[in-house]
This record gives sequence, C-alpha cells and structure tokens, in this order.
Amino acid sequence: MQTSSDYVAQHKDRFLSELIELLKIPSISADSAFSQDVINTAEMVEKALKEAGCDSVEICETEGYPIVYGEKIINPDLPTVLVYGHYDVQPPDPLELWDSPPFEPIIKETEEHPEGAIFARGASDDKGQMYMHVKALEFMVNTDQLPCNVKFMIEGEEEVGSVNIATFVANNKEKLKNDVILISDTGMISKDYPSITTGLRGLSYVEVEVTGPNRDLHSGLYGGAVANPINILSKMIASLHDENNHITIPGFYDKVAELTPNERAEMAKAPFNLEAYQNALKIESVYGEKGYTTNERNSIRPTLDVNGIWGGYTGEGAKTVIPSKAYAKISMRLVPHQDWKEITELFTSHFENIAPKGVKVKVTPHHGGQGYVTPIDTIAYKAAAKAYETTFGKTPIPQRSGGSIPIVSLFEKELGSKTILMGFGLDSNAIHSPNEHFGLWFYYKGIETIPYFYKYFTEMSVK
Ligand code: BES
Ligand code: MN
Ligand code: MN
Repeated sequence: MQTSSDYVAQHKDRFLSELIELLKIPSISADSAFSQDVINTAEMVEKALKEAGCDSVEICETEGYPIVYGEKIINPDLPTVLVYGHYDVQPPDPLELWDSPPFEPIIKETEEHPEGAIFARGASDDKGQMYMHVKALEFMVNTDQLPCNVKFMIEGEEEVGSVNIATFVANNKEKLKNDVILISDTGMISKDYPSITTGLRGLSYVEVEVTGPNRDLHSGLYGGAVANPINILSKMIASLHDENNHITIPGFYDKVAELTPNERAEMAKAPFNLEAYQNALKIESVYGEKGYTTNERNSIRPTLDVNGIWGGYTGEGAKTVIPSKAYAKISMRLVPHQDWKEITELFTSHFENIAPKGVKVKVTPHHGGQGYVTPIDTIAYKAAAKAYETTFGKTPIPQRSGGSIPIVSLFEKELGSKTILMGFGLDSNAIHSPNEHFGLWFYYKGIETIPYFYKYFTEMSVK
C-alpha cells in the first residue's frame, strides 16, 4: 500500500503549483476593495475539495463571506473528523517592507528553510496549512485509505473575527456533527521539536477615541491651556501597566487560571533559547510581566497591547496643531476563564474612569473570543501524538500558544466538540507581517502526517 510519504514525493510539484495558484488571489477579508477576490477564493476552495474527493461540496452564504462546506461520508457508524480552516488573509501592509509582492508567491531558500519556503501573504496563515488537509484527503481517497468520515468547513472571515460563522455553526449543528475537530492554523516549536498546540488565548479588541476641543487648535494660541487629546491618550495608555508590567484595570486578573508550580515546571522543559529569540527579533532584551518567563508571558498570561495609535498631523514637515481627537486600537489577549465580554466591560469602565476632565472618551468594542485549553489524555491528542511520532520520529511536546482562534471555544460550546490543533507553522513564518512564508518541508510533512491522524484516531475510537 502506498504511504503518504511516497504519495507526497510523487506529487509534490503539483501540490506546490496548486498552492501557488491559491496564494495569488488577494483574499483580504478586512478590505472591501477585495471582496470579489475573497469570493473567488471560496470558489477555488470549492473546486479543490471536489477534486480531492469530497462527495458533496457547497458554498454556504452568510451575512458576510461564504463558508465552503464539503464532506465525504463513507459509513455513518464510523467516526467523523471535521476539518476547519480559513481562506481569507490579513492585509499585506506595509507593502514596502515586502521583498517580493505579497500575492506573487515565490520560492526562496533561507537559512532556516534550506529546502525552500514559499513567500506570500497567507502562505502559512492559513492557505498553506489549510491546503495540506485538502491534499491529505486526496491521498486518502486516491489510495483507498480514508478510514472514517470527513467534513470540511473552510471560512473566509477568520481574520476579521469570524463574526458570521457563529450563526452558521449554531444553525447547522446536525450538519457539522463530528467526533473531533482538526485544525492546522497554529505552529510548532521546530522541525526537531514537533509540538501540538494545547491552548489558545482569548481576545478582546477595542478602539478608543479621546476628544478634546471641538476643532483642531493653533498650538501656540491654545497650547498649555486646553487638554491635548494625544497627550491625554498617551498618559491613559501608559497608566494601564504598572512598574511590574501588570495590567492595572481593576478585576482584570480575577478569573485568570493560574498554573500550578508543577505545570509551570513542565512548561519550562520545552526547548527555548532566549538568546536566539532575541537575536531573531534584533532586540537586546525581552520585556514583560514581572515574575514570568518569556514562554509564560506569551501563552498563559493575559496581555494588553496598543496595536495602532493616531491623531493630529502626521504628514510631511511640521504643522503646529493641537488636535481635536486622538485614537488607539487596543488588543487584550486573555487566558482561560477570563470572559472576553466581561473584560471588554472592565476595560471600558476603567478607561472612562481615568479620563480627566476636559476630554471625552468613547470606547468601541470590536471583536473578541474566549481562550481554549485542551487536555492531553484524549483519544484525539494521543492519535495526533502518534501521527507525529510516525512521521517525525519524535514525541510531540504539548504547548500552549499565545494566538487566538475564537471559533475553537465556540465549537466546544455549540457542538460539544474538542479541537486538536496540529499546526505546522513556525513563529518565524512572519504571519501577519511582511514576508510571510511557509517552509516547503513543513508543507509536505503536514500532508504526510495528517492521514496518520485519521488512521490512529479511527483505530483508537473504534474498538
Ligand atoms: N492562525 C492565527 C492564530 C494563531 C497563529 C494561533 C499562530 C496560534 C499560533 C489566526 O489566523 C489569527 O490570526 N487569529 C487572530 C484573531 C482573530 C480574531 C483576528 C489573532 O490571533 O490575532
Ligand atoms: Mn489563521
Ligand atoms: Mn491570522
């Protein structure tokens, strides 16, 4: 019987050229100028799922971008794996920082990827990783090795908060019914240390507006006598962390699930090289909450970060002006048991409270989602671990990630399903950044590994 590794070796050039075609379409969900491209990408995914062997594929309309749904049911008595992924991508800005255009994929060898990496927006997040699943299905169907039922649900609004998918999931519980959800939209430690993501952070994203005088003012005539919204906003933001980099919003930490010393010791065993981390980012030192390691700060601890700040004059030269308004976009990464809606409320009332007289403050919540942790004593985790053992020759390390995929906790709530996160990206893939890329070795290894998950999950479930 042909193995997935043989099949990949035989079809690797085609697997790559198909991915290149998918990466050429700028499916930027955040920017309505690209809405036709987003829709075209959905159609491409539909076609790919049909060709890979799904029995039925449909484009499900939502209030926003469509969800591509496909399935192959071989026997209702067998387990069902639901694959989730997203075909939309982040905006590529700032364009000038890309070494090659974001939607003209090219293969380049790098120190980290001597076998080559594909550079394009979405290469790793999530078109490349999603497409591994389509090709894994093709392998299983073509070689008669699909051991169970499979459903695919590929959405186009993940990068803008999966707002409409919540309704879709709630209205299609029967259709989406499954025994496990499988997602490749995260990363692993490295080639030598494969890892399985066991946790995701939640998110609360807000925009704030500070208004001072009713119009922009001459900074000489009025400067010093009225509140400057940018000065005030900067002060307010600075006050959100104390000298130990703890967040100062009252109640913010109340529900944070603290890890036991044992769990922290386990976490600390994961390979991590602080110097290499700093070198990769060209920083002299890391920075963060006192009392926690870098790996803890970026996974099991909540954060508050300004993602963007603007106001006043930012054009060429100098303009002496006190602006009427100042703005910022702020994200808070949350950990299990923190409720994102509650945190959004805590933030809002705190931000309103600390505003001095002389300015008005408006807080507008954007999107958000709950965090997620998954136990490692489940069949799904064991099957995934065995799959990595088969193709990497190593037992994967369980690792909590700092990123967010809000749909994962929603799946648990609406469908009662656990998710297994088999990510094949690396932190260095520059997702959401210029020069995003995905190592070809990881792309092919993913296609090779995924079918073993199906095999072991089915074997372990059907006893
Ligand atoms: N795939 C990422 C999330 C991710 C990446 C998790 C790497 C773990 C490791 C996803 O596409 C993403 O970017 N999510 C957003 C949240 C969303 C609500 C916009 C995020 O984490 O910022
Ligand atoms: Mn993603
Ligand atoms: Mn993303």
